[in-house]
Amino acid sequence: MHDEEDFSDAERVETVRIKGLGGELDISGNFYERVGGSQTFERLVAKFYEGVAEDDVLRPMYPEDDLGPAAERLRMFLEQYWGGPTTYQEQRGHPRLKMRHSPFKINPLARERWLLHMRAAVDSIELPQLLEAELWGYLDRAATAMLNTFEE
Ligand code: HEM
Repeated sequence: MHDEEDFSDAERVETVRIKGLGGELDISGNFYERVGGSQTFERLVAKFYEGVAEDDVLRPMYPEDDLGPAAERLRMFLEQYWGGPTTYQEQRGHPRLKMRHSPFKINPLARERWLLHMRAAVDSIELPQLLEAELWGYLDRAATAMLNTFEE
């Protein structure tokens, strides 16, 4: 009874289901492609670092006068994480983010500030709701994972 014949039109049914759910949302491609590729991540990190530049807790942590190279590293990492080019890995090696953040004092206040500027950045790129929720969920969890002290 339940042989392959039962599912001969499984593909068609799946297509219909996805169209019904997707609405205007383009569901083709990976996350990196669906949010608009490199230019979206460029806008995201540019907006984020505008906030960092004015932040009295975060700004002193960044060793360089120019925040440009740090913005570049964050952009390459995020692009790679979401399925874009693997330039980060080629230039910086394995991310090991927790370890790379260990020289910096990341307490709850630093995390809060980081997320404050990232929230403004995510808002500024105006993604469809589902994509935005996925991006934000990740950033929020990743920021929590980066906590390394509760000292003030
Ligand atoms: C929670 C608060 C956080 C603080 C205060 C913080 C701070 C910093 C600082 C001071 C640097 C060094 C700047 C540089 O030279 O690149 C850095 C680097 C970096 N951060 Fe964060 N960060 C935080 C969270 C995160 C999160 C959640 C991510 C990823 C989702 C992230 C990704 C990166 C990356 C990719 C680099 C460059 C690593 C490298 O290749 O050297 N950071 N961060």
